[in-house]
Amino acid sequence: MSETIEEQFQAAGVVIDGLHKSYGPVEVLKGIDLEVAPGQVVCLIGPSGSGKSTLLRCVNLLEQPNGGSIDVGGYDVTDPDIDVDAMRRNVGMVFQQFNLFPHLTVLENCTVAQQKVLKRKKPDADRIAEKNLAKVGLGEFGDRYPDQLSGGQQQRVAIARALSMDPKLMLFDEPTSALDPETVGEVLSIMRNLAKDGMTMLVVTHEMAFARDVADRVVFMDDGVVVESGPAAQVIGDPQTPRMQDFLKRVLDPTHVEVDE
Ligand SMILES: Nc1ncnc2c1ncn2[C@@H]1O[C@H](COP(=O)(O)OP(=O)(O)OP(=O)(O)O)[C@@H](O)[C@H]1O
Ligand SMILES: [Mg+2]
Repeated sequence: MSETIEEQFQAAGVVIDGLHKSYGPVEVLKGIDLEVAPGQVVCLIGPSGSGKSTLLRCVNLLEQPNGGSIDVGGYDVTDPDIDVDAMRRNVGMVFQQFNLFPHLTVLENCTVAQQKVLKRKKPDADRIAEKNLAKVGLGEFGDRYPDQLSGGQQQRVAIARALSMDPKLMLFDEPTSALDPETVGEVLSIMRNLAKDGMTMLVVTHEMAFARDVADRVVFMDDGVVVESGPAAQVIGDPQTPRMQDFLKRVLDPTHVEVDE
């Protein structure tokens, strides 16, 4: 094969088949099947501890699965012969905590991996970072330091940093959960634009309005299995299982408490 993974790896979709993951004796993922077609947005929802983060972390091999396969852009990432670094370069990840380097400026946060990992020259890395900072509405903020920004702005930098690596797939793990309510909207609107631009996205979120509006499909997980999946209007608008109905009640009304009769 003469082409590198980067050249072959276009509009990456994800196909997860029978994924198992255990920590010691505890089985956290119990045979997950999940598909994200290239250019699609899938929102993953479910209660705390159901295995959502573990699933995302298996997709970019931050965790090693114990069984099943994960195909990203035509590559089985669980194949022991895969070039893990090359595969990871194609997958951007945005976490709940922004994980910016506090001692680097916003611009430097967006160029350091481009230079170190992709071996881009500084002027090229700067230009690409500036383009992506402009895309997230922070074109004027390159010289600031992370602690001079709001949480929402820091998360937008984290998105610009991920985009600067030219990912073919973006994974988001509760990107707005650590934000003040008034800055949640600005991050969601950036993600909305990314989806419109055709980015393939797998998003763990509790933002039901976002899931309903933006997701092509919604997957509801509980206790390590997929309980419901389908179009957002169906899964959120007309949940079929008591587990999903109960979850929705709690997410849409956090003050709701079950009282035993
Ligand atoms: N490194 C680890 N070692 C042992 N157990 C772990 C590890 N990481 C996660 N777990 C366990 O796996 C289960 C699933 O965790 P995970 O973080 O994937 O859940 P989640 O759905 O993302 O939850 P939340 O909504 O709270 O983020 C939990 O019971 C958790 O305690
Ligand atoms: Mg999690």
